[in-house]
Amino acid sequence: VTEPEPSAARPAAPVRVGLLGCGNVGAALVGLVETRREAIAARSGVDLEITRVAVRSLTRDRGVKLADGVLTTDAAAVVADPEVDVVVEVIGGIEPARELILDAIAAGKPVITANKELLANHGAELAAAADEKGVDLLFEAAVAGGIPIIRPLRESLAGEDVTRVMGIVNGTTNFILTRMTEEGTTYAEALAEAQSLGYAERDPTADVEGYDAGAKAAIIASLAFGTRVVAGDVYHEGISSITAADIASAASLDHVIKLLAVCERLEGPDGAEVAVRVHPAMVPVQHPLAGVRESFNAVFVEGTAVGDLMFYGRGAGGDPTGSAVLGDLVDAAVNLHKGAHATIGMGGRAQIRPIDDQQSPFYLSIDVVDRPGVLRSIAEVFERHGVSIRSLEQEGIGDAARIVMITHRAREADLQATVTDLRDLPTVHRVGSIIRVVGAEG
Ligand SMILES: NC(=O)c1ccc[n+]([C@@H]2O[C@H](COP(=O)([O-])OP(=O)(O)OC[C@H]3O[C@@H](n4cnc5c(N)ncnc54)[C@H](OP(=O)(O)O)[C@@H]3O)[C@@H](O)[C@H]2O)c1
Repeated sequence: VTEPEPSAARPAAPVRVGLLGCGNVGAALVGLVETRREAIAARSGVDLEITRVAVRSLTRDRGVKLADGVLTTDAAAVVADPEVDVVVEVIGGIEPARELILDAIAAGKPVITANKELLANHGAELAAAADEKGVDLLFEAAVAGGIPIIRPLRESLAGEDVTRVMGIVNGTTNFILTRMTEEGTTYAEALAEAQSLGYAERDPTADVEGYDAGAKAAIIASLAFGTRVVAGDVYHEGISSITAADIASAASLDHVIKLLAVCERLEGPDGAEVAVRVHPAMVPVQHPLAGVRESFNAVFVEGTAVGDLMFYGRGAGGDPTGSAVLGDLVDAAVNLHKGAHATIGMGGRAQIRPIDDQQSPFYLSIDVVDRPGVLRSIAEVFERHGVSIRSLEQEGIGDAARIVMITHRAREADLQATVTDLRDLPTVHRVGSIIRVVGAEG
């Protein structure tokens, strides 16, 4: 595709951008605006100009060109500046980001943010303020970095009956699990490699324990189902207890282990309910999510009319995330010229189904005494709690005997009660990993 001649539709007045934060994402955005400015002006009719940039340190080298006087440490002054038309928030965290965004909206300025933590905890407050003021609040970059998923959920699928969304939305954990699967490394070795490559923080808790994916799941569920879900509603388990033996068992069953964010819309006794959880899951090798390797992200959407969709790409990194911010920026600038704004479509508070009442098939590994009657005693415990076994295999003999099984779809509470009773059986040494199975529900 050839781009239109520059300056074809170049407007007289640039849209002046106030940038809050110039780290990984902010600096990438500055570079992208510089290289893409002419093409964007030609294609969209908006001329973007970054006029003010707020940071903490005025001396740090950011590797980007900024005119003298553009940098400041006073973020509030950037928001209030009459020379700023649109505000981009890429500072991160709750405060001062929340207050700065609310101030920008109150001043009638559209806001673009990449801040998942803030949106997952205070999204409704920000969305209500933006709707009331009639300005854009756009946040494509907040979920899965460079992958367009927010706009498809908000706009393209606005009329669709979305029933389930499953995502690999954390690149760090996907990288670790890929290494464990493909190289046979332990969790600790794979984490150390992720840290040395800059994919994982020195304190990896937010990624490996599922908090980061949980915040993204809350945002996805809110938009997919048009109902408000916050980070605290999301049940989460991380990957730090996944062992090489689990990975090997999954492979022998033609599955791979992925950290998934799962958002489901279900019918409850009093109407629609939403189930949102993040946990390691066994995914059949033929499922499209199983082929998402390394630090890539993907979001798999299931809808009644549209069927299955998958969005795939780079879920983090300065340039991919900056690209998503830039798309929002162009949109907001175009809307500003037209005097229009997008609607967010976050409805009232969701009825959340507690984790105990959620259902899925489960994989279990049980270390047992290798003697006659063991299987019968185990099967009796499952039967007592109404959990039916779909497949069962014995690995090893003698002291190393292990039973590996997959259940049919079962309630979490029933499965937990089963496990508690299994632990009391004299024939059971240990109940090892319990991993939910996805994509083979029955
Ligand atoms: N990095 C990614 O791949 C990615 C992907 C998706 C979403 N995001 C989101 O994007 C946001 C930014 O992430 P990032 O990786 O770019 O973070 P970062 O590299 O830590 O950059 C943060 C920037 O904010 C500035 N800052 C911090 N506190 C400030 C304050 N009170 N006033 C003014 N400036 C302040 C910092 O200034 P100094 O430079 O002077 O310290 C820095 O430039 C976060 O919400 C993050 O969750 C990031």
